[in-house]
Amino acid sequence: MDVRVNAEAPQSPQHVEIRREDYRPYPWKVPNTRLKFTLGLGKTRVQAILDVEPNAAAESSDVLCLNGDELTPLGVWVDGSPLDSWLMDGDDLLIPLTPGKHEVGIDTEFSPAANTKLMGLYASNGMLCTQCEAEGFRRITFFPDRPDVLSRYRVRMEADKAKFPILLTNGNPIESGEGADGIHWAEWEDPFPKPCYLFALVAGDLKANRDSFTTMSGRKVELGIWVREADLPKTSHAMESLKRAMRWDEEVYGREYDLDLFNIVAVSDFNMGAMENKGLNIFNSAYILADPDTATDGDFDNIARVVAHEYFHNWSGDRVTCRDWFQLSLKEGFTVFRDQSFGADIGSPAVKRIDDVRTLRMIQFQEDSGPLAHPVRPDSYIEISNFYTATIYNKGAELIRMMKTVLGEKKFRAGTDLYFERHDGEAATCDDFVKALEDASGVDLTHLKLWYSQAGTPHVTARLEQTGGKAVLHLRQSVAATPGQPVKKPMAIPLKTALIGEESGAEIASERLILLEESEATVEFDNISEPALLSINRGFSAPIVLDVDRKPDDLEKLAASDTDPFARYEAMQELMLRWLISTAKGETVDPQPVIRAVGDTLRSNQLDSAFKAEVILPPSESMVGDRMDVIDPAAIHAAREQLRSVIGRDLSSELANAQRGGGQPGHDVSAEAKGARRLRTVALGLLAAGDPANGAKLAKAQFGAADNMTDRQGAMMVLASLEAPQRKEALDAFYARYEDDPLVIDKWFGVQAAAQRPDTVDQVVALAEHPKFNPANPNRLRSIAISFGMNQWAFHDESGRGYRFLADLILKADKLNPQVAARLVPPFGRWQRFEPKRAALMRTELERILSTPGLSKDLYEQVSKSLV
Ligand code: PHE
Ligand code: ZN
Repeated sequence: MDVRVNAEAPQSPQHVEIRREDYRPYPWKVPNTRLKFTLGLGKTRVQAILDVEPNAAAESSDVLCLNGDELTPLGVWVDGSPLDSWLMDGDDLLIPLTPGKHEVGIDTEFSPAANTKLMGLYASNGMLCTQCEAEGFRRITFFPDRPDVLSRYRVRMEADKAKFPILLTNGNPIESGEGADGIHWAEWEDPFPKPCYLFALVAGDLKANRDSFTTMSGRKVELGIWVREADLPKTSHAMESLKRAMRWDEEVYGREYDLDLFNIVAVSDFNMGAMENKGLNIFNSAYILADPDTATDGDFDNIARVVAHEYFHNWSGDRVTCRDWFQLSLKEGFTVFRDQSFGADIGSPAVKRIDDVRTLRMIQFQEDSGPLAHPVRPDSYIEISNFYTATIYNKGAELIRMMKTVLGEKKFRAGTDLYFERHDGEAATCDDFVKALEDASGVDLTHLKLWYSQAGTPHVTARLEQTGGKAVLHLRQSVAATPGQPVKKPMAIPLKTALIGEESGAEIASERLILLEESEATVEFDNISEPALLSINRGFSAPIVLDVDRKPDDLEKLAASDTDPFARYEAMQELMLRWLISTAKGETVDPQPVIRAVGDTLRSNQLDSAFKAEVILPPSESMVGDRMDVIDPAAIHAAREQLRSVIGRDLSSELANAQRGGGQPGHDVSAEAKGARRLRTVALGLLAAGDPANGAKLAKAQFGAADNMTDRQGAMMVLASLEAPQRKEALDAFYARYEDDPLVIDKWFGVQAAAQRPDTVDQVVALAEHPKFNPANPNRLRSIAISFGMNQWAFHDESGRGYRFLADLILKADKLNPQVAARLVPPFGRWQRFEPKRAALMRTELERILSTPGLSKDLYEQVSKSLV
């Protein structure tokens, strides 16, 4: 059948901006959707039957507009009869319909094997799987591909039994059978209405790690984690994490699982971390597979975090979904907050908070201060895939955390209960969420809502003035302009604050919550009996940049005595940051306060190893750069190396102790054993900075003796930045040992791209030619591109070759997978922050990308916005 085009419709411009204020409800409801898949790698056929009826809540329409993407209808039926009067409007299918109920049928066909975008239905390692969020379902069949159209799905899958013995989709299996010629089929039904972005299907030769979970009301749920047979032994940590998450959500949020079945499938080609499809989560295998020989402690933690995150979405995402994609943080910010709280509860809350804040600062703060800055609830986008950002996820989580801080535990829980009850089965908005919290608690949260709409990280300055028994805290806030928001209003900033006695080291004014709402405020503390030190934004109660008027001496005391562990960490970071910034600017500063504080931390009997490791790790080069007006990567690198080497030399015996310490075997994953390993590698890095030759020896010994990936990769990481014969020996040995394990080979690439060496650019250029480098596999592409883009010193090599390399790689990736390519752009977005020579080189590369013909809209949006 030939394709007809709607001649009247204006030629749709290639890159249209979608605006939040243009939201209108869809004119039709789709109560039921029946899909029949005839599955094959090279060709898959989909027959869809939709029950449609007018949506009383919307303006009526006499056409049914269904989204498509690279699809052609093979046939269209209305109420059982073939229809000829359909039209194509760009990628969309328009079907004229009289008012009333109808049954609409559409046939399509496409090639999963040719789908390199990994959106819709695609092939990975001989299996078939789907990814539909945000707008991938339209690559499977024509459909109202928007989150506010909820439908009940019944799905029939038919495939060659030998090639695809396992057939899975959402909900519960109803019937199955075998046909002629080795074909088998299965029919499933999902009783919960869902938007199409939560649809999932998997067909392949998979084996399950099976278990079960009994819910709080006594229902038994069958659990399955599906992988290739050889990977089965690596699924037990994911299974344990899943059961813990299921229990936690019952205990902490009162949320019970609702189907008889919960399946997870691991795939090796995946654009993101994982996906919360109803009853059938699909995961990047990196977030499922682990054993101590191949995965680090960090990998184990990430698996627990992501498994919990996707499971938690069953309520915050699936049962209550988003009205439109501008509300993405409704499910993502809340769910990240939930997974962070879970992580704090199953591990060390202080270390978890430090970790989460580090991610926020390294990624979200950079985003918020650059050309791609956008509010937690954006007002417009060109390509929604570009908005799966640290702002939506991590700043969104901070916003939920602030609401909880203001409400307190009990009222917050009453609020989330009301939210789930009120909006169950609906597509809701961020405003609905806040309203539920307000209604349940009786507390007005209007002042916090500005965090949804105003982009940019607030800067707060704080100064404590003390006279007699009284202390006065002076606060002042400002928010810098961001794209489209030149003038900012003051934000509501909850600051947990206490005063610490300079001599006693005790809390002389106990913690209180100060809410800074105006541009300036003063707060008084009475009955202050001794000189006081200001401990503010404790626990990182607000996601802000804080500038406190404090002397290095004060910071040193706070680093040793603050009663809030996070504030203690902050004091140390601030102490190091100030030294690094001054030194990078060419000033000569005494490092002794830093050395003393690091030494005290290492020698402390009270602090655990994991906390020590976080505290003594100097801030990354990009974090230093972020706090400077003009970034000079070489000067920052030199300053940080100088600090690392002084610490390494002056504290060599403390560090050597820490590096030797912790004799637990590598399969011990207790907090204590993990902490000891973390500290071991941090100490090793500092020792090597102080004495590279000895460091190389120690690292090689750690590498050789390691009975776990954490110690092995840690040692290899340290060696990768050194100039020593042991470097190549370790890298070669590692490669030979893990040649056939793709997730471990990703580490091998990543460690080299992250190495701090003058020749890292040459190394990554060579790595991109390595036979195992494959830009079509997102994990492999990112193993070089993300690690290198975050390697400030190497990426910003004076020659500009780092820029050229990454730009070339982005252009190459864009041809295969625009979504993943566009996510590699942010390092370029910071060009205006760099000294003029580098800024010009970066700009040139952005312009070169932009002038390349045939650019995807994903890449177009990120690059054009980066140039503004
Ligand atoms: N919704 C997924 C999550 O955060 C992320 C995702 C987005 C996955 C888009 C795939 C594609 O849990
Ligand atoms: Zn999520």
